[in-house]
Amino acid sequence: MKKEYFACPEPINEEKLYGFSWLENVLAIPSPLVCVTSYKENGMPNAAMQSWCTFDGTEGYHIILSSVNKHSHMYSSVMKTKQFAVNFPSRDVFMKCMATIQNNDHEKDEITSSGLTAVAASKIKAPLIEECFLNLECELSWTKETVEGGDHYVFCAKVIGIHMDEERLNSAKLGRYGETGYLYNIHNPIDPDTGKGSDSQVGIIQSLGTYDKL
Ligand SMILES: Cc1cc2nc3c(=O)[nH]c(=O)nc-3n(C[C@H](O)[C@H](O)[C@H](O)COP(=O)(O)O)c2cc1C
Repeated sequence: MKKEYFACPEPINEEKLYGFSWLENVLAIPSPLVCVTSYKENGMPNAAMQSWCTFDGTEGYHIILSSVNKHSHMYSSVMKTKQFAVNFPSRDVFMKCMATIQNNDHEKDEITSSGLTAVAASKIKAPLIEECFLNLECELSWTKETVEGGDHYVFCAKVIGIHMDEERLNSAKLGRYGETGYLYNIHNPIDPDTGKGSDSQVGIIQSLGTYDKL
């Protein structure tokens, strides 16, 4: 049996959802955990955890950051430089990337003050996080407000080059998935029947095998 919802279920208190839609927490669809880096207007490295994002590999390769808060340093830096890097932490680096949220002063290098190493990108003006197993160099293509007059924007950027740990490229070594690979955000799942929720969680991908195995 399927349950149908067209409005916020009564047990959920929308005022406690920090501005998110109840659908965000009832669905709790995982999305990749990345850290976006750029240079602030004062030249200091900026780092911003981002998780509302996806990719399009059809006409070139693009990243779509689907919920960029217009009050963040990242928004103002990238609107100015039109360039940024996307860094993928594995579980051993994740908490250091999360520390960039506390080290958010305009005057701070948000990467080194979080115990990480900033290295210059090759083709764009943006810092990369050395400890992340994958870094994408990106050029901003277009932006659009999600809702007219709202706080969030969709950013579409072309990936012009990558730096990837060779052991992740080799599935006989670390590979891309499982305990050492891509991380996913599981954002505060809530049970619509009780209104009870869990803190956010970190997920990994386990392959079930090729299509014909299912
Ligand atoms: C797991 C996680 C995912 C996040 N995803 C996003 C996101 O997709 N978009 C966004 O605007 N902020 C997101 N944030 C919040 C920003 O990372 C946070 O506001 C950060 O301090 C912004 O940094 P900045 O002001 O230096 O750019 C996320 C935070 C966490 C912990």
